[in-house]
Amino acid sequence: MTKKNSKRLQERLRILVANGVNLDLLGQREPAIYGYETLQDVESMLRREASTLAEMAGLSSIELTFFQSNNEGDFLNRLTPEYDGILLNPGAWTHTSLALADRLKGLAIPYVEIHLSNVFAREPFRHHSYTAPGASGGVFGFGPSSYHVGLWGLLLTISKHRANRRPRSSV
Ligand code: DQA
Repeated sequence: MTKKNSKRLQERLRILVANGVNLDLLGQREPAIYGYETLQDVESMLRREASTLAEMAGLSSIELTFFQSNNEGDFLNRLTPEYDGILLNPGAWTHTSLALADRLKGLAIPYVEIHLSNVFAREPFRHHSYTAPGASGGVFGFGPSSYHVGLWGLLLTISKHRANRRPRSSV
């Protein structure tokens, strides 16, 4: 590997963890479905695990930006090209927001869609996602661990993209 390529794999990775509508209520909202862990608990878990997961994926120096909004316009405005990847739980906007799907398409940043609950075992209106078709992958049904598995999948995706960007060796 040339110095330039190894530097590229070591570039600081900027990951946005974007939580949509009503996820601020995690921990008190329908605990039989979403559990008792708060969004703050989820953030702490991800921050604890991020460097280890990045290292396992052959990446280094990861920076997580975590945010939640109940305002769709604010949410869309926070999805910007400065990130290398997005871990996305849009909440109910998953099932309603064409605008969100269009924005993600426009940004063309790899993202993984996650849900705490198994949306396919719930009401039929939760079975459709506007955002899943454009995602690198999706995770649902593991409670807060969906974030962990989702971050791992996202980092593997980014690592693979970066490795593919490497010029082929001439030998
Ligand atoms: C959710 C599933 C959505 O259907 C629901 O509207 C949410 C949470 C989940 O994480 O399981 O708000 O995204």
